Amino acid sequence: MDSRKTIQSRGIRLDAFLSCAGRASRKEARGLIRRGAVQVDGEVCRESARRITRERVTLGDNPVHSPADATDLLVHKPTGLSCTRDERESPLVFDLLDDVLRRRELKIAGRLDRATSGLLVLTTDGDLVHRLTHPGRKVPKRYRIAFEGVLVEDAIDRCRKGFPLGADARVTRPAELVLEGQGRATIVLREGRTHQVRRMIRALGGEVIGLHRDRFGALDLPKDLAPGTLRALEPEERALLLSESSL
Ligand code: URA
Repeated sequence: MDSRKTIQSRGIRLDAFLSCAGRASRKEARGLIRRGAVQVDGEVCRESARRITRERVTLGDNPVHSPADATDLLVHKPTGLSCTRDERESPLVFDLLDDVLRRRELKIAGRLDRATSGLLVLTTDGDLVHRLTHPGRKVPKRYRIAFEGVLVEDAIDRCRKGFPLGADARVTRPAELVLEGQGRATIVLREGRTHQVRRMIRALGGEVIGLHRDRFGALDLPKDLAPGTLRALEPEERALLLSESSL
């Protein structure tokens, strides 16, 4: 796999470039571009859709560095793999990587339990990890749940309002629970506490028997990415991951 399939190949829109580089939200970037605050190779560019490959981009007097040097991977984690580097927990999600990728300092942005499947991001970019996982960013993550048992009647309301999780007195952030028929639901969380969905469902009267993350930020797990496979994250996908971040 070409793990460095990056901006060089097709380029990235100028507004997405600024957003990926952490300089503005996508919407703010469009405003900055419209107002003439952004230069491409020394010339003011007012076109958000302009595609950037290797050009020099500046915002005011400050250069905006390309995120192209990072390795960002999109993984469809199957169940049965642990999100850790600790060999004692093998098999690991890192076992999916080839030798070249295994040598890179890839970090996991938003771990999944061994028994959970779905969309996982691995990256060498510590800033991306921070932006996806810092509680203040409130990046939404959607989980599909299969559960046994019957949830309390006010489960949706309790998720919306938040409740303390067992011994953890901190109230959960407002979460959107959607009941989808017998033993099936989806939930959108804007935080990531250990085993959070399993613990929330247990507190509401059920027991999770299957859990799958199918959306992170505004990015859906691509239908053509089979369980156990991975590929480079496209710049546009990176922008989607970050587009619902609060800061
Ligand atoms: N909540 C869980 O309980 N497990 C996960 O893997 C992710 C969210």
